[in-house]
Amino acid sequence: MTILITGGAGFIGSAFVRLCRSATDSRIVILDALTYAGNLSTLETDLKDSRVKFFPGKIQDATVVEGIIAAEGVTHIVNFAAESHNDRAMLEAGSFIQTDVYGVYILLEACRKFKIERLLHVSTDEVYGSIDVGEFTESSPIEPNTPYSASKAGGELQIRAAVKAHGIPAVVTRGGNTYGPYHFPEKLIPFFISRLIDGKKVPVYGDGTQVREWIHCEDHAGGILHALQHGKVGESYNVGDQNERTNMEVVKILLEETGRDESHIKTIPDPRRGAHDKRYSMTTDKLEALGWKPKKPFEESLRDTVRWYKDNEDWWRPLVATDDYKRFIKAFYGPTLGEDL
Ligand code: DAU
Repeated sequence: MTILITGGAGFIGSAFVRLCRSATDSRIVILDALTYAGNLSTLETDLKDSRVKFFPGKIQDATVVEGIIAAEGVTHIVNFAAESHNDRAMLEAGSFIQTDVYGVYILLEACRKFKIERLLHVSTDEVYGSIDVGEFTESSPIEPNTPYSASKAGGELQIRAAVKAHGIPAVVTRGGNTYGPYHFPEKLIPFFISRLIDGKKVPVYGDGTQVREWIHCEDHAGGILHALQHGKVGESYNVGDQNERTNMEVVKILLEETGRDESHIKTIPDPRRGAHDKRYSMTTDKLEALGWKPKKPFEESLRDTVRWYKDNEDWWRPLVATDDYKRFIKAFYGPTLGEDL
């Protein structure tokens, strides 16, 4: 296999690069736009491997995508490239549609032209919307509620149609909330860890009773590789770990592990308004029936993640020092965090 990993310098994409290096003998070609969320320092060790090649560029750019596929003899594509932060999409959703919908279309066109053997598209459980009781299965309706998840659903629908119209050999995975090392410090877990290390307050939306189902990035990457190798064309597979926790439960572990007390919690009016999904939960029976199982225990691995951030300030401090990061934090949290910003 020569795998093109798009978005390979991002959080889950880079975990997948590490996994492919250790668990397969494939050649690995990475295409990444290096937006604020993609970081070459994450790939420092991987880029020393002679099996790995890196190209900067966007999946929306057909010339770049097709040029790489032709020159490198790509046989498989795994698409991690995406705008993925709900809060940024509350401020501006155009870039999400560009990457998460139009970019997927460009990849599908390239699959068609170059007869790619398999496209694995990485999607999210958020396409199902929110569920109060029970669990989503892969045949639950697609009912996204947020500007971000609507863009991911748009990408998935492009794939569904391309499988039917053009016989593109595509498989989709829908991942749960993911945590672990090299996670850009804007999502709940890495954002709060970085602030707590610095003794700052953490902004909990509403009462913090929203429920998320957490999976470690290594398990998420493992589920994607399994679906790439064993999934059936035209099917979707949930990749989760059935670790349901309220946001407040997660925050309390982060407080403990960083040695901070509850005075560091600041509850703020919910900035996601009506687009804030209350609960995500899904069954993973379909992928487990193909022989996959997540391995990492949640609480222990979350504590390890906090320790990773304590030990790897060189990785995240430059990210929180950029003008783009400061601008986003000010625009999104300024009105509610005020002097605690
Ligand atoms: O479920 C999969 C999805 O998980 C992925 O598709 C998304 O790319 C990923 O960002 C994540 O979406 P969420 O919106 O659930 O993740 P986030 O870490 O941003 O928020 C988790 C929960 O924490 C959510 O209920 C909102 C809350 N939250 C988040 C932030 C950043 C806060 O209370 N305060 C915050 O400052």
